[in-house]
Amino acid sequence: MIRRLRVRDVRCYESAEIALGERLTVIYGANGSGKTNLLEALYFGCTGRSCRTSNDREFVRFDQPAARVELEIDTEDGAHQLAVGFEPGQPRRVTADGGPVERLIDVPFRPLACVFLPDRLELIKGAPSLRRDHLDRLVAGLWPARASARTDYGQALAQRNALLLRVRGQAAQPSELDVWDLELGRLALALSAERERAVDLVAPPAREIADELGLPGGLELLYRPRSKADSAEAFAAELLERRSSDLERGFSGHGPHRDELLLSRERRELRVYGSQGEQRVALLSLLLAERQILADERGRTPLLLLDDVMSELDAERRERLVARITASGQTVVTTTELAHVPSGDEADLALVEVSGGVVHQEVPA
Ligand SMILES: Nc1ncnc2c1ncn2[C@@H]1O[C@H](COP(=O)(O)OP(=O)(O)OP(=O)(O)O)[C@@H](O)[C@H]1O
Ligand SMILES: [Mg+2]
Repeated sequence: MIRRLRVRDVRCYESAEIALGERLTVIYGANGSGKTNLLEALYFGCTGRSCRTSNDREFVRFDQPAARVELEIDTEDGAHQLAVGFEPGQPRRVTADGGPVERLIDVPFRPLACVFLPDRLELIKGAPSLRRDHLDRLVAGLWPARASARTDYGQALAQRNALLLRVRGQAAQPSELDVWDLELGRLALALSAERERAVDLVAPPAREIADELGLPGGLELLYRPRSKADSAEAFAAELLERRSSDLERGFSGHGPHRDELLLSRERRELRVYGSQGEQRVALLSLLLAERQILADERGRTPLLLLDDVMSELDAERRERLVARITASGQTVVTTTELAHVPSGDEADLALVEVSGGVVHQEVPA
């Protein structure tokens, strides 16, 4: 578990420190007080990147050259310290127990993290590519050694697309595509298989959690591949059927880069028919289920970061959610209204009040 977070020149914080609860930490304060910034800092400390922006420059406090995040972590084998320094345009400076490390993912005690930000509802509501990306990150999180399935496929796809353009420009023969199609088929099947495996793992707990959180009609997760092929040859044959239209467009229109992950309730897609609250519960169920299977596969439960989820849930769903998240692992939630977080066991609870970019918490020495 993470004991403490320290930040310097992160977003609105010049310097701040919080002590985290073993189970639950509630960060509360008015709009704009700096709650989400602390969640983001926790995520940054665990992963080396922001969960809010792809432009990490935004993470550094205005007019400052660099940001720094430090985590104090307790594991079974004792206390550890992890620090990530970030200066725009420079490689991250990561230190583990004081010594420099090349990559954060190589640090054995690095905490895993799952995050829910309000804009992540886009995952339910938005384009299929968001769900594919999410699924591929889940695969990478579950089986780090197989994370290359997506990049390998992506590279082969880009090469095939380049070749399509050369064939179209008569700089290459159509038959040159044959070898690529077979290779792409091999990689496509591997990628789809990983995704399907992940969906098979996550679907049952997601359904169970959705039941518990009160999604009437249940949550169904379904991976829907475009291809029916069960071998590289069969995939290549599918590509051959579409070769003329691919040549016309200049890119490959068939394969796992067009697959869909469907989330539905009573056989109707939540993306289309779900209410705001139903979409939210579905997303929470999915993320909680992912956290559970990550814990099973990796042997450690990811830190769960929930930004502003309480305000959109009714009182009963809030109760159930808190009961669920405090049952295992460590969670940090933000809220504008402290009363929105039903908290039972005081001993495990850390309360952090923020106002105007300043933390008000008595941090034990
Ligand atoms: N790089 C930065 N440097 C300084 N201040 C920043 C930076 N980025 C954002 N801020 C400021 O941080 C403040 C707090 O933002 P944050 O998103 O943490 O608020 P919040 O408490 O989550 O509010 P809400 O309840 O509205 O979600 C904002 O006023 C924002 O302008
Ligand atoms: Mg916020």
